[in-house]
Amino acid sequence: MKAVKKMKSNDWDVEKIRADFPVLSQTVNGKPLVYLDNGASSQVPNLVIERGSKYLQEEHSNIHRGVHYLSQKATNAYEGAREKVKRFINARDVKECIFVRGCTEGINLVAHGYGRKFIGAGDEIIISAMEHHANIVPWQMLCEEKGAILRVIPMNERGELIIDEYEAMLNERTKFVSIIHVSNALGTINPVKEIIQAAHKFGVPVLLDSAQAVPHMAVDVQDLDCDFMTFSGHKMFAPTGSGILYGKKELLEKMNPFQGGGDMIRTVTFEKTTYAGLPNKFEAGTPAIASNIGLGAAIDYLNSIDRDAAFQYEEELLKYATERLSAIEGVKLIGTAREKASVISFTIENVHPHDIGTILDQSGIAVRAGHHCAQPVMQFFQVPATARVSFAFYNTFEEVDVLVDSIQKVIDVFA
Ligand code: ALA
Repeated sequence: MKAVKKMKSNDWDVEKIRADFPVLSQTVNGKPLVYLDNGASSQVPNLVIERGSKYLQEEHSNIHRGVHYLSQKATNAYEGAREKVKRFINARDVKECIFVRGCTEGINLVAHGYGRKFIGAGDEIIISAMEHHANIVPWQMLCEEKGAILRVIPMNERGELIIDEYEAMLNERTKFVSIIHVSNALGTINPVKEIIQAAHKFGVPVLLDSAQAVPHMAVDVQDLDCDFMTFSGHKMFAPTGSGILYGKKELLEKMNPFQGGGDMIRTVTFEKTTYAGLPNKFEAGTPAIASNIGLGAAIDYLNSIDRDAAFQYEEELLKYATERLSAIEGVKLIGTAREKASVISFTIENVHPHDIGTILDQSGIAVRAGHHCAQPVMQFFQVPATARVSFAFYNTFEEVDVLVDSIQKVIDVFA
């Protein structure tokens, strides 16, 4: 194995940050937990845990429905979280921020509410070769129903989209573009601003699946000029069941509702229902109140740290881990894009990724093994699955060393 120089960001006190995340201080199988599955779900800081606990102990009630004290408190906390989201993504209007259960629901909402109304037979929808299933299946379902055509931007051997081919694909039949912002399986950061500008030349709206982007970079919807953007709370230090669909107000207003039920209506008779204004039109039923208040607290937490230093630290961690993993004989990195977030997918010669995951777990190391809900990406690279490490700003260089030593042990076991 080649020696690799260890760099350290001087501006990032990782031990102080780790102390904010209680789950990290446990042992697993007698070893300190090394949590490298942040792409699936990140961990939750004390601030979020305490906010959730305060809500459950002091404020728990249904929102928007009661005139009583607790309902008003819960409503204020929930709508307060929405205001935090607005500032966090720089939306123009708080009404553009719809609470959803996560990206999957956000994309389904748009495929249903926009797609079923505005996309018809022979129209084209563009996605890419590196989409998560959540950004393939809803569009396929729409295409099957409407007779529309799904077109796929190809990628190169590094796992980068071929933008020239995308530009050549755009035409007057293109009605929608929906693109993963950062690939969960490969780590590729896509040139989304360029993608959006090209689509807008044809008047085509663009949705960004920013699940893996929001934890690793500032996402400013006005700067990007995306028409829709969705992210999941549980990948950005908030509880599961929280998430956001951002949409430009003029688009959200002309869309059909997604689900029907309480809170999304203005008036109901057996003859006709009229719908509530934004954002309620898209939030039928009792939402994940505690989780979304937790999302607001996660934003407070991110605002309390030096995010630029965090991003730089993650880049250094990625560089170090990439160099160390590439130096191990038998390890092959899947996805070597020039612009990458802190995700590394890899295979080991003659070892199934599930075995890698299981053996690493015995050393207390959590990684994801599988197709990462991106089977077409696996097919492209001709692998059944990969092992994937995905970092957050609380991971350490020492954890990378533990990972590398343990991978060497996996290789030795199968040698
Ligand atoms: N989409 C999640 C992942 O990439 C679950 O692991």
